[in-house]
Amino acid sequence: MQYTRNPPLEVDQLSPDPLLQLEAWIGAARDAGMIEPAAMTLATVDAGGQPSARVVLLKALSADGLTFYTCYESRKGRDLAGNSQVAATFWWDRLERQVRVEGRVEPLPRSHNQSYFASRPRESRLGAITSRQSRVVATRAELDARLQAVTELWQGRAPECPDHWGGYRIRPHCVEFWQGRSGRLHDRLRYRRAGDGWVIERLEP
Ligand SMILES: Cc1cc2nc3c(=O)[nH]c(=O)nc-3n(C[C@H](O)[C@H](O)[C@H](O)COP(=O)(O)O)c2cc1C
Repeated sequence: MQYTRNPPLEVDQLSPDPLLQLEAWIGAARDAGMIEPAAMTLATVDAGGQPSARVVLLKALSADGLTFYTCYESRKGRDLAGNSQVAATFWWDRLERQVRVEGRVEPLPRSHNQSYFASRPRESRLGAITSRQSRVVATRAELDARLQAVTELWQGRAPECPDHWGGYRIRPHCVEFWQGRSGRLHDRLRYRRAGDGWVIERLEP
């Protein structure tokens, strides 16, 4: 596969803030017709040093970092309780671009989780209450029956955010922007934290 879509990527084209640059690339991926331009593969590490990775949706991007929501009792939630270091990647095939993020997560305050939860569709809220993500369940029917019971329990009332559900914010210390070039000498520009600001360095492909 030859990557021919992009003109050369130069430092002076990038925002001084990697999160603004990431926002621009997600916007470009959306404009290019990608269905889930904010989907990122998130890697965590367990107490034994075993990494695991899965896709989650980036729901907010600000100067504070990257926010995603999940079940705190899931495999990733348990990993993050013991080790807050994460890596995340985005890949947009239509743009021939990748972004890599490394940093630490912090769980969001319960008050934030409650207000975000309240903004979600009712079906998503009932699903979050029902599912103890990553646990073994004997049958699909068991899960469906539990959803039915939860739906009846909250009939006529606004489902409340359970303690086991909420967000994390990734505070990055390193963000790399990769763009395919023809031949194999792709462009890689990496931001790393230096004091209050960022240093951008070019990496060999
Ligand atoms: C496109 C896509 C988006 C997803 N978004 C989320 C998400 O935002 N939060 C989440 O907990 N799981 C999300 N998932 C499911 C996760 O990939 C994963 O199955 C789940 O979080 C359990 O992972 P764990 O057992 O490693 O904790 C998404 C999956 C896909 C394919």
